[in-house]
Amino acid sequence: MQEELTPRQIVEELDKYIIGQDDAKKNVSIALRNRWRRRHAPEEMREEIMPNNIIMIGPTGVGKTEIARRLARLADAPFIKVEASKFTEVGYVGRDVESIIRDLSDRAVNMVEDEHREDVQDRARELAEERILDELVPPAEEQQSASTTSGPGFVIHTQDDPDEADAGDAASDEHAPRERTRQKFREKIKAGELDDREIEIEVSSDPQNSMLQVFGPMGMEEMGMNLQEMLGNLDGGGQKKTRRVTVDEARELLTKEEAQKLIDSDKVQEEAIERIEQAGIVFVDEIDKVAARSSGGSGGGGGGGQSADVSRQGVQRDLLPIVEGATVNTKYGIVETDHILFIASGAFHISKPSELIPEFQGRFPIRVELNNLDEEDFYNILKQPKNALLKQYRALLASEDVDIEFTDAAVREIAHTAAEVNMEVENIGARRLHTIMTTLLEDILFEVPDEKHDDSVLVDADMVEDKLSSIAQNRDLSQYIL
Ligand SMILES: Nc1ncnc2c1ncn2[C@@H]1O[C@H](COP(=O)(O)OP(=O)(O)OP(=O)(O)O)[C@@H](O)[C@H]1O
Ligand SMILES: [Mg+2]
Repeated sequence: MQEELTPRQIVEELDKYIIGQDDAKKNVSIALRNRWRRRHAPEEMREEIMPNNIIMIGPTGVGKTEIARRLARLADAPFIKVEASKFTEVGYVGRDVESIIRDLSDRAVNMVEDEHREDVQDRARELAEERILDELVPPAEEQQSASTTSGPGFVIHTQDDPDEADAGDAASDEHAPRERTRQKFREKIKAGELDDREIEIEVSSDPQNSMLQVFGPMGMEEMGMNLQEMLGNLDGGGQKKTRRVTVDEARELLTKEEAQKLIDSDKVQEEAIERIEQAGIVFVDEIDKVAARSSGGSGGGGGGGQSADVSRQGVQRDLLPIVEGATVNTKYGIVETDHILFIASGAFHISKPSELIPEFQGRFPIRVELNNLDEEDFYNILKQPKNALLKQYRALLASEDVDIEFTDAAVREIAHTAAEVNMEVENIGARRLHTIMTTLLEDILFEVPDEKHDDSVLVDADMVEDKLSSIAQNRDLSQYIL
């Protein structure tokens, strides 16, 4: 885990992806570091120290979700994003908030499993290649029975083996040449020389496709049991089926299967639960939508507004236990939510954080505001982040051997248009850059594969203006296009 990063280092990492929003970055970096600090605190204090849950306040598309997501990645932390407003939809009132933790536990298990799989990869590959070898050149004991099934066309050279005569007892005398052949094939398999050859292998059918998965979400979880595993154990871990594949494909399939066998699922689950409890991050979006509006707001309308307020508060009350610390049954075991970090976020245009119920406010002591993004920010967002849009398009077109460049003036012009349209039509923050870029590059992206294009395209300010200004200046048009 990467939680040893200092707040400054965390901010530096976040800077690689997110422009501006320094206050938010600073606060999330402290919250993350505090978790590490807590784990190093004296035991009797450790349980007392509560996570610094955060409310991020800011308009749409300015980086709230992005910050939380990047933070989780940095920390190798299991992460889940939920929308508070989802819990108010008709039929969903009182929806089981514990499902958040259950979903999080699925992710944590996948995450830890991937890591373990990585650890056993080399060994699994060896075992897989050994199984392929058994198919191609069965070991000596099986020679008789297997020789009829193994594919045609194998000539096993034994005649010119110099050691043959030296062997002591009769048994090894028989086996030694075969072992040598096997060794030769083993090397060939390893070197990939037999990759195109077809063989028949037996693989257990993919658990992902099994029927039981279909029944999974129908409430089995609530009982805290893992039916699939129970049944899996009964029939010895799934059905086997024979497939004819190339050695290359066989290696991939069998490596997966062997890796799965090598992974200790009890250990994975234990570790996953530990990781959720100590490092999990739950991002609760649209929290403002479940804040009650101040009484002045909805006014004389009467009953409707009031009951909506009640249901909004209801959502907060539902969420409260898991934020405060509850015990949740998951199919992997019990998860204590006390030290999970919760980051809530919302625009708070209509409601205010002070309109959340007091208990809820108390659990989110840190408030950070994110700023509106301006033209200068857009310019930087287009260019700087590791995953910057311009870099993405450059990579996309590089796949067609086309090199696309943007002049500085062009980037300025794109940023300018984005800011303008945001102001004129609707402020959707940095998301505007996506819509503008697709409009700008539409023709290029369409034509490049079949037209005999030059291997480089230069986007300059004129072209940007050409493509965008007529749309940007027409409010009706830009509502639909940009
Ligand atoms: N400050 C920023 N720096 C770099 N990219 C940004 C920034 N803000 C937003 N983006 C980009 O814009 C897109 C939307 O951002 P994000 O999902 O974080 O918005 P948000 O603040 O969570 O909005 P909402 O309130 O609608 O959920 C993402 O693709 C993100 O990469
Ligand atoms: Mg968001």
